[in-house]
Amino acid sequence: MKRTVIRGTGKYVPERIVTNQDMAQWMDTSDEWIVQRTGIEQRHWVDEKNPQGTSDLALEAAKIALDRAGWKATDLDLIIFATLSPDINFPGSGCLLQHKLGLETTPALDIRQQCTGFLYGLEIADAYIQSGMAKKILLVGAEVHSTGLDLTNRGRDVTVIFGDGGAAVCLEAVDTDQDVGILANVMHAMGSMAESLMTEAPASRNWPRLDEKMMDEGRHFPVMDGKAIFKLAVRKLPEITMEVMKKAGVALDEIDLFIPHQANMRINQMFAKSMKLPEDKVFHNIQQYGNTTAATIPLALDEAIEQGRIGKSGDVVCFLGLGAGVTWGASLYRFP
Ligand code: UT7
Repeated sequence: MKRTVIRGTGKYVPERIVTNQDMAQWMDTSDEWIVQRTGIEQRHWVDEKNPQGTSDLALEAAKIALDRAGWKATDLDLIIFATLSPDINFPGSGCLLQHKLGLETTPALDIRQQCTGFLYGLEIADAYIQSGMAKKILLVGAEVHSTGLDLTNRGRDVTVIFGDGGAAVCLEAVDTDQDVGILANVMHAMGSMAESLMTEAPASRNWPRLDEKMMDEGRHFPVMDGKAIFKLAVRKLPEITMEVMKKAGVALDEIDLFIPHQANMRINQMFAKSMKLPEDKVFHNIQQYGNTTAATIPLALDEAIEQGRIGKSGDVVCFLGLGAGVTWGASLYRFP
């Protein structure tokens, strides 16, 4: 049977660090508020003196992941790029990354699943691999949020949480009878809540897509009903965990580490509490990076492996998250 196995991971964040104190110089906020409400202490943002696009961050992460897998870019059958902040409106960042990797015709697709981009990407990669359509896939999650945030008081609830970054995994088809690799994926979406977290403009449904009035109203900046998303996440994350465990036939105590989307440390602490998990079974790195959206889960995976928290043969990890769309999902993975 074909199973999807992780062969290498890599991460990259821009050098520039933006602290909560920096934020407090630009808007009415404080280190105390941000740490208490979110757990975030700092985030990395691209530097306006040295602009980098989303595919530039992805490229650095991809090079590390490919190197660790022992692969050349030309080995790839497919690139899947998850981002809500593509370098340009179109074509997608997957095509830009493909070119930056020196490839000529390797297929590349972008997915727009925001915070669950990596999870949806894993499920898509798994489907390609199980159907025999691809053997070696590069899955990337990367975001440059900082160039599109409202640095005034109007945007402070959203702006303080987002960070820039990229992370990549190399996924390979392995023929085996063992129950390893991706064990199960479960994905959901609820479009009725689309406007609870969105950047509306430029919008093809508007004529014109963006004008001065819309800019004055800040409709080109992300807006969020934070409380609604928070409450839904606290309810849905335990539910989706039970769902993916049932699908894979894996018990809670068989899972060695949970790697949730890093949107708010309080959400993940509440998840741990409601699942009655010891704190050390849930991975956090939001303190250093903030919410890097599609990059959070692979970035956390890369760090968890580096720290020796996960990665031994037989270790089971659960990836899970909820975000804009609204979308949510979970995947279970056993290291071969
Ligand atoms: O990754 C995508 C998915 N997103 C999420 O999962 C995010 C989920 N939501 C959250 O993480 C939280 O809702 C936030 C961190 C965004 C906000 O925390 P909260 O505890 O829900 O605060 P709130 O929105 O209820 O605001 C409480 C107060 C308000 O002031 P008043 O009305 O009580 O006077 C806000 O205006 O905090 C104010 N506030 C701030 N104060 C200082 C909002 N943002 C800030 C800020 N600094 N940055």
